[in-house]
Amino acid sequence: MNLIFVGPPGAGKGTQAKLICSEFGIPHISTGDMLRAAIRQGSELGIKAKEYIDAGHLVPDEVVIGLVKERLSEKDCNTGFLLDGFPRTVAQAEELGRITDIDYVINVDVPDEKLVSRIAGRRSCNKCSAIYHVSTYNKMTCEDCGGDIIQRPDDSEETVRNRLNVYHEKTKPLIDYYRERKLLSAVDGDKSIQEIFDDICSVLT
Ligand code: AP5
Repeated sequence: MNLIFVGPPGAGKGTQAKLICSEFGIPHISTGDMLRAAIRQGSELGIKAKEYIDAGHLVPDEVVIGLVKERLSEKDCNTGFLLDGFPRTVAQAEELGRITDIDYVINVDVPDEKLVSRIAGRRSCNKCSAIYHVSTYNKMTCEDCGGDIIQRPDDSEETVRNRLNVYHEKTKPLIDYYRERKLLSAVDGDKSIQEIFDDICSVLT
């Protein structure tokens, strides 16, 4: 099963991706997590990506496409995968279509006004990328791995506004792109985490 999650920043793609990957036993490929890991390692790619991410801009297509191509060639992707945050432009989608077939594209849809409070309260583990929200988890260490809980630098109010603009301009056209190819299923992301998970499972089974 080859899946893609699309949706605006803060829609809950990462939260649902972790649940779906554990349910279906497929790897979770988050380009955001991969880029943040590269930044933490201080690699050449990380140094290049950091200025784009911190400003809320997209990292150039060729950089991200190279990263995803390499990841999809790994053995654990042979029986399926979930792409979270990729593709994000039509050029990325076209290139992905040349590499592999896709079975489902899930659009997690949440109104903009809800996204800002979700993102402002988001906290993540800097080691295993577990996702929390201050309203339900206010500890300094991750309950899964003991890593430090941090606020992402790109979750500042100004950067979030940029990320939303970039989403509307560059990523939203993917919804029509995949609808035309009859791969798109829309899921209402303005529900509880469990309800959204159930809705996604009904699309996939
Ligand atoms: P990325 O890490 O992919 O960020 P994003 O797409 O902006 O998505 P987010 O991680 O912000 O949100 P999410 O939908 O995963 O929500 P989450 O589950 O965390 O990308 C970051 C940056 O990397 C980009 O801006 C770009 O610079 C670069 N990049 C990445 N991929 C790229 C690509 N392909 N091309 C170019 N550049 C790329 O949930 C958010 C919060 O809401 C959490 O606190 C969570 O607990 C809470 N929450 C989740 N579900 C619910 C619910 N149902 N109800 C209430 N709260 C909820």
